[in-house]
Amino acid sequence: MDKKTIILKTDDNSIQKAGEILRNGGLVAFPTETVYGLGGNALMADSVKKIYEAKGRPSDNPLIVHIADKSDIAPLVKDISKNAKKLIEAFMPGAFTIILKRSELIPDSVTAGMETVAVRFPENETAQRVIKASGVPVAAPSANLSGKPSPTRAIHVIDDLSGRVDAIIDGEDCTIGVESTIVDASKDVPVLLRPGGISYEEICDVVPETRLDEHILNSLALDEKPLCPGMKYKHYSPEADVTVVEGDMRAVRRKIRELLEENSDKICGVLTMSDNTYDCAVLLSGGTDNREYAKKLFSNLREFDRLGVEIVFAEFESRDGYGLAVKNRLYKAAGHKVIKTGP
Ligand code: TXA
Ligand code: MG
Repeated sequence: MDKKTIILKTDDNSIQKAGEILRNGGLVAFPTETVYGLGGNALMADSVKKIYEAKGRPSDNPLIVHIADKSDIAPLVKDISKNAKKLIEAFMPGAFTIILKRSELIPDSVTAGMETVAVRFPENETAQRVIKASGVPVAAPSANLSGKPSPTRAIHVIDDLSGRVDAIIDGEDCTIGVESTIVDASKDVPVLLRPGGISYEEICDVVPETRLDEHILNSLALDEKPLCPGMKYKHYSPEADVTVVEGDMRAVRRKIRELLEENSDKICGVLTMSDNTYDCAVLLSGGTDNREYAKKLFSNLREFDRLGVEIVFAEFESRDGYGLAVKNRLYKAAGHKVIKTGP
């Protein structure tokens, strides 16, 4: 693929241009508060097909449709249950995606043939301006090449998608840094399918009977049919080999020191969530709480690659409700290579 990709700023003219490209079926990457998205016109099957091609994404993995006003939801879906209404009221706009039965308006390519559609109303102002300027619902997966860590800065998108899309908006860094929380509200009891920017606890405060999908922390056998098709693919993987070392920080530090010694012939890096220091080539800080760790996680994974690190040991301790989203991304980045240290 060798397209001419224009880099747009966030002034009104640039946003209008982005909207026009989207309306006409082109592809535009834009910031949201979670991660950058790669948008196409959700009502045009051809545009949607181009998204899959640009990312190298398997076509059985459906896309989220982005809107910029709650009234845009009704035409896209068949029915909004009482629980769905409560969730929409509480979490939109925000880092939240709702799955509902789809209407005829949505092409099969958006939902990979499923009878449901995922809808998200981002809070980020640039995202809202782009969607409004396009005048159409915008289908958008994360704007990374399939398998790479999701992009949380414009430069990540430029690295992955230059020459593959029509435009990239050079906007702000993402404030949340992990993707939206996905809740399937198409049936009576809502099910959380992907932990993200809104915690399970926050969801349960609004709809207490919400269940947590059992696949969330397990690696899935390839022949298993997960509820959220995207969960079965290898994800967020840097080139470096990642191992998560989890537990009480004193034990974590002891274990990582041991591992560094065993691997002294390799270029090692450590991702910390403490003030532990190590004798290693690259030490990157994830911040001390899970929210901060999440915000920097994908950019840190990309940074290890940029610096040529071969092995990464990631400290992890689940410290709050937000830990589930971090754990889910970290475990995937590590291909579920996790060492649990004792208390
Ligand atoms: O924060 C986010 O959600 C970001 C920004 C750009 O909005 N988007 C994002 O999209 O993470 P993507 O394509 O990387 O992940 C979408 C996930 C995939 O795992 C997909 O399988 C799932 O949503 N999904 C989409 N439609 C679905 C449906 N109808 N039923 C179940 N899962 C669905
Ligand atoms: Mg993604």
